Amino acid sequence: MSHNIDAASFKAFAASRRTTRDFLPTAVPEDLIDKLIADAMTAPSWSNTRPFMVGIASGERRDRISKEFLNRWQAASGALSPGIWGKLKLAITRYGLPKSDYKVFRPYPKDLKPRQQKVGADLYGHIGIKREDHEARQAQWGRNYDFFGAPVSLFIFTHSGLGEYSVSDAGLFMQNLMLSAHANGLGSCAQGASALWAEPVRKEFQIPKDYKLLCGIAIGYPSTDMVNDFQAERLPIQDIKLKPND
Ligand SMILES: Cc1cc2nc3c(=O)[nH]c(=O)nc-3n(C[C@H](O)[C@H](O)[C@H](O)COP(=O)(O)O)c2cc1C
Repeated sequence: MSHNIDAASFKAFAASRRTTRDFLPTAVPEDLIDKLIADAMTAPSWSNTRPFMVGIASGERRDRISKEFLNRWQAASGALSPGIWGKLKLAITRYGLPKSDYKVFRPYPKDLKPRQQKVGADLYGHIGIKREDHEARQAQWGRNYDFFGAPVSLFIFTHSGLGEYSVSDAGLFMQNLMLSAHANGLGSCAQGASALWAEPVRKEFQIPKDYKLLCGIAIGYPSTDMVNDFQAERLPIQDIKLKPND
């Protein structure tokens, strides 16, 4: 099939998409969101099954979900001592709050942990939050639950019947969607944070049996806040290339 984009343009475009963590309140029309979803449907899929569904939350629906998330976050984070991720699971259990559909919190494997720590330190360093300033770190993380001010949050559900391949298909769909958002002048933030409490989302949509909340994607127009200039480093490709056996 013919195409009219050269490799250098693709490289520059793909590399220029970065996560947005501060949005303008400017509304995004639903027909533009539909356009992003239609572009995202050009992604490949396991036997073309498209084993995922999307909930669109804007206006009052978005505000209701955010309010519930923020209430739960405040209850959970109030119980936290330094070290959000490790303690959050404990806090949730202690407060008996609703569980996520997927296991959102799990300890990072030893070989991946340094990468997670690096991006966290780099991001907080970029916006001037000191490592020991747990309050400021928690407040920044809590912004997830206002979707960083985005007027729209999408919620991605995957069919549990295809296991890992549903999740993989959803990932391909999400990346096309976020690139389409970028091409349309919008910013996006994939949010695992939005899958922590499934119940506030589940009650807003008619969700077929077997569909589980994987994550959210905040969508809107990026502000000029410096957080949006953050460039997460990329690993050299050698770090992910398997060495062949002799
Ligand atoms: C599935 C998924 C979940 C994510 N969850 C969050 C989140 O909850 N909050 C957040 O600020 N960023 C989240 N991110 C964004 C990543 O931190 C970001 O993609 C990574 O640091 C690379 O930066 P870049 O997107 O700017 O290239 C998520 C990304 C993915 C793919």
